[in-house]
Amino acid sequence: MPELAYLENSFIPLAEARVPVNDRGYLFADGIYEVIVTREGRPFLQPEHLARLEHSAAGINLRLPAPLSQLEKLIATGIAKAGFAETMVYLQVTRGTAPRRHDYPGDLEPNLLLTFRPRPEYPPELGQEGIGIITVPEIRWARCDIKSIALLPNVMMKQQAVEKGCREALFVCADDTIRECTAANIFFVKNDTLFTPPADHHILAGITRGFIIKQASARKIEVCERKCTLEELREADEAFITSSTMDLLPVTTVDGHAIGNGRPGPLTSRIRGFFP
Ligand SMILES: Cc1ncc(COP(=O)(O)O)c(C=O)c1O
Repeated sequence: MPELAYLENSFIPLAEARVPVNDRGYLFADGIYEVIVTREGRPFLQPEHLARLEHSAAGINLRLPAPLSQLEKLIATGIAKAGFAETMVYLQVTRGTAPRRHDYPGDLEPNLLLTFRPRPEYPPELGQEGIGIITVPEIRWARCDIKSIALLPNVMMKQQAVEKGCREALFVCADDTIRECTAANIFFVKNDTLFTPPADHHILAGITRGFIIKQASARKIEVCERKCTLEELREADEAFITSSTMDLLPVTTVDGHAIGNGRPGPLTSRIRGFFP
């Protein structure tokens, strides 16, 4: 089954999809995106993802190319056409195509790209054994709540993590405040309470993060969204990271320092079970 794209109003094989060099996404990273995965063939938490897409669009004064109901239909059609057991849908909107200059004409037609690929599978041992992460300086902009396609700091720091044999890199501010990883949110557990940095302008309000907070709160697990420090994380009983593609992965080391007893913790394992 070939991977599929939706571009310029048609479904085509992803390998044949081309964008013009004057696409402002290509020239300026002037665009936003979402990643939605399916569970049992259906897009998981799609309304939440599309609400965040609207938030990102508003954040950069971008007009979405179609109403959300139409985007939902395109997503459903693409999933059905692609025919994978489980699909990862990538949705990107750029401001449009225009000769390269920083300002842009107000009537620019936004460019929509959807891609449909098999949902990535994570080796089960990562969930059972946990992963190591490194810490890196927070060098990103002040609107990380916008899911912008400008991801150079994330790309560079993720590469550093991989080169050090780790799965993720956690952005940490000069004052020791922790933010999030390059493509995941962070949680830690201390004395049975779940801690995670607040969903302000400095992190992406992860859809998985929101799902976990809701599920945990419904089960009377105490959740505390507040500014957290690296020292607190290092002294935590358990830690894990979350995203739509990985769900939840236990974190057992930070910069080589063991979290808790260096094994995935009991609350982390319980929370993994919240996913349908
Ligand atoms: C910077 C960043 N934080 C957090 C997340 C997790 O978000 P979600 O749970 O919506 O996938 C992502 C996902 O790609 C991300 O890129």
